[in-house]
Amino acid sequence: MKKLFIIANWKSNKTIEEAEKWLHDFSEILSSSPLDLLNKEIIVCPSFAVLEHAGYCSKNLKLPIKLGAQNISRFEKGAYTGEVSAEMLESLVMYCIVGHSERRKYFGETDDDVIEKIKLLLEYKITPVLCISDLSQLDSYINRGKQIIERSKEIIFVYEPPDAISGGGDYKPDSPEDANLNAGKIKERIGEIKILYGGSVNSDNVASFFSQPNIEGALVGQAGLDPLEFLGIIKNA
Ligand code: 13P
Repeated sequence: MKKLFIIANWKSNKTIEEAEKWLHDFSEILSSSPLDLLNKEIIVCPSFAVLEHAGYCSKNLKLPIKLGAQNISRFEKGAYTGEVSAEMLESLVMYCIVGHSERRKYFGETDDDVIEKIKLLLEYKITPVLCISDLSQLDSYINRGKQIIERSKEIIFVYEPPDAISGGGDYKPDSPEDANLNAGKIKERIGEIKILYGGSVNSDNVASFFSQPNIEGALVGQAGLDPLEFLGIIKNA
């Protein structure tokens, strides 16, 4: 049975109070209707400002979740105003999203930035969750960083076509078949790796993606902001 990774990317949402409420609600719903989480890794990625408190609440509530960050600095440390380094995150998270298309679109993140971030994450033993928009982007990563192939077992790959991400003007979810096909092409280039799908996943469509042989989880945006809906995804997975 394949192990599924279900990751909530909260993006630039939730204050400390809102995050605390989400975690308490998640805990209450889960205790009233327990789920079999044996083959599921549940990961929540809040903003940097919320991470430490989310970790504190999650520990107190004994939640079966791991924490991830949404980004890190490409620099190890030093005079880089506003940046959060891998070393700072090391004690807070096990995972970190890297190369999200929104960081590329709104913050000018480049392929080289992404490779530098992956190197630092691997050095600090934080699992990179690497978003791939298309195959040409993957080829560029492979050409720029030998880690993509050599350390591929330590990386979680996500096929996330930007057009399928909710919130944009005329987004449309990818079909499970197309997502599976592209995940397969990524595997052909890299080898036996873990690949998730991202883009408009919700509790209604999750099973259709997870039944595809190449897909081993989901990176969830909008539907992860509501604990009931996120638990619905976990339940229907
Ligand atoms: P949505 O699930 O809101 O489409 O977002 C996907 C995403 O960008 C996850 O990182």
